[in-house]
Amino acid sequence: MAAGPLLSLAAAALAVAILVPTPEAWRPTTPATPPPLPVLPIPSAAQLRWQRREVIMFFHFGMNTFTDSEWGTGSEDPSLFRPEALDAAQWMDAARAAGASLAILVAKHHDGFCLWPSAYTAHSVRASPWRAGRGDVVREFVGAARARGVDAGIYLSPWDRHDERYGDEVAYNEYYEAQLHELLTGYGSVSEIWFDGAKGKNATNMTYHFQEWFQTVKQLQRSINIFSDDGPDVRWVGDEKGFAGTTCWSTVNRSMITIGEAGIEKYLNEGDPRGPDWVPPECDVSIRPGWFWHRNETAKPLSQLLEIYYNSVGRNCVLLLNAPPNSTGLVEDADVARLREFGAAVATIFGTDLAAGSAARASSERGGPGGGFAARNVLDGCDDTYWAPTAEDGRRNGYWIELRRPPEAANRPFNVVRIQEHVALGQRVERHEVYVDGAPVANGTTVGHKRLHRLPRAVAGRAVRIWITARRGPPLLSAVGLHHDPFVEAGAM
Ligand SMILES: *[C@@H]1O[C@H](CO)[C@@H](O)[C@H](O)[C@H]1NC(C)=O
Ligand SMILES: *[C@@H]1O[C@H](CO)[C@@H](O)[C@H](O)[C@H]1NC(C)=O
Ligand SMILES: *[C@@H]1O[C@H](CO)[C@@H](O)[C@H](O)[C@H]1NC(C)=O
Ligand SMILES: *[C@@H]1O[C@H](CO)[C@@H](O)[C@H](O)[C@H]1NC(C)=O
Ligand SMILES: *[C@@H]1O[C@H](CO)[C@@H](O)[C@H](O)[C@H]1NC(C)=O
Ligand SMILES: *[C@@H]1O[C@H](CO)[C@@H](O)[C@H](O)[C@H]1NC(C)=O
Repeated sequence: MAAGPLLSLAAAALAVAILVPTPEAWRPTTPATPPPLPVLPIPSAAQLRWQRREVIMFFHFGMNTFTDSEWGTGSEDPSLFRPEALDAAQWMDAARAAGASLAILVAKHHDGFCLWPSAYTAHSVRASPWRAGRGDVVREFVGAARARGVDAGIYLSPWDRHDERYGDEVAYNEYYEAQLHELLTGYGSVSEIWFDGAKGKNATNMTYHFQEWFQTVKQLQRSINIFSDDGPDVRWVGDEKGFAGTTCWSTVNRSMITIGEAGIEKYLNEGDPRGPDWVPPECDVSIRPGWFWHRNETAKPLSQLLEIYYNSVGRNCVLLLNAPPNSTGLVEDADVARLREFGAAVATIFGTDLAAGSAARASSERGGPGGGFAARNVLDGCDDTYWAPTAEDGRRNGYWIELRRPPEAANRPFNVVRIQEHVALGQRVERHEVYVDGAPVANGTTVGHKRLHRLPRAVAGRAVRIWITARRGPPLLSAVGLHHDPFVEAGAM
């Protein structure tokens, strides 16, 4: 034990030597402990980047904005599309204010009207009076996104109520493929593409060639994530409330899912601990009642948006928040203000970690205290370092990790506990319990990238211990944080 501090100094020096190449040819004498084996399946690099975004913006804008509808008929006159002051930069400012690093545009909704001048149809912005028929919303969108440091994504509705090829399987699938080529080769890097399974009950029975479409997408954009009910990269969460299941696995068995088919909502909502495919869920929800702008609707209150945040990001999901620009081509000031309020509230809650300065210990540490997998890694603010127990740990009573807060922390109560798994090596935790000074305060099943527990009342104890009582492999925790949410109303949970 006496050698502990020296060993950890050596480990720190070793870490520095690995991260920062130094000119001296210094060589460690103590071999490092290798990381534990992954528990399959694991995410791709693009899926990991996506997961860490946590909040994404969605912009539903198009013919419906001008006709006060959610689902157009496809017979709308293109001359109706005339946003007087469309400003995609204003949309991006709204996205940034909400904390989003990716914004997805509905380039074509079910009515078939294309927001870019597609060469394969006459039903597009080219036939509208907007910018004298020379406009391209997709180009303005990606340009504004890039200028603001936001990544761009595209939604292209499979269901098309305008195009007369719809129902002619080969011709329509060719048309759709051609539009994928336009959107994925003409506008630079696209980080996510959205395939909506929605389709009217009376719609023509039409087989979409999803496999061809998906492979085309991957050919054209190497690091894109494909969203659909069934992934392959990101799955639908099964509802439009923005709520994931309290149990939420990033894994599913893709052969259990048929895109657009009802009855799989619960499976999508909770995932499948035995699923062989890594397809984490995205929670799509609008800040307003509708996806498109309607004069008679207003944004949800902050309390509801925070509820959505806790039930999506706080349950191992990415939140896809929709803000519909109005018929002028702007996100309404009141909506922008609400998004800013939301982004600021999240920053206020999570900007201060009341676990800072704690001492950390655990039931065991892989490779010993200096082995690179120490309990204190959960406090370093880095997703790539984590606590790992030894292989022998956890056989009897489960694994635990404990943070001991400094004495002065006793007057700094917290009402949110944040737990994060190092999901790069697989999602493992099946059940966990949280204790403060020996008293149980929260428990749950899955953790995944991020699990947020709101406590019924704020507590100010010193020792916070997390027990992992069931797991698919030794648990690897990258972070444990304690926060105070001042927005939560007493008893409102
Ligand atoms: C679907 O078709 C039925 C029978 O023709 C009709 O009564 C109904 O209104 C249609 N529904 C929609 C949404 O168009
Ligand atoms: C639609 O077509 C597919 C393939 O031809 C068929 O299997 C399916 O039963 C049809 N669905 C309906 C609702 O007619
Ligand atoms: C996935 O689901 C299919 C179809 O239900 C089944 O045949 C297969 O065994 C499942 N795979 C796993 C790994 O559970
Ligand atoms: C607003 O108007 C639209 C279209 O007229 C309607 O579908 C929607 O239900 C209305 N929303 C509310 C909240 O009343
Ligand atoms: C759209 O929103 C902007 C910004 O709040 C506002 O100036 C404009 O009047 C709105 N347009 C309509 C049609 O309500
Ligand atoms: C888990 O939490 C629930 C609700 O707060 C509580 O009723 C239950 O006793 C807790 N279980 C454990 C094992 O702590």
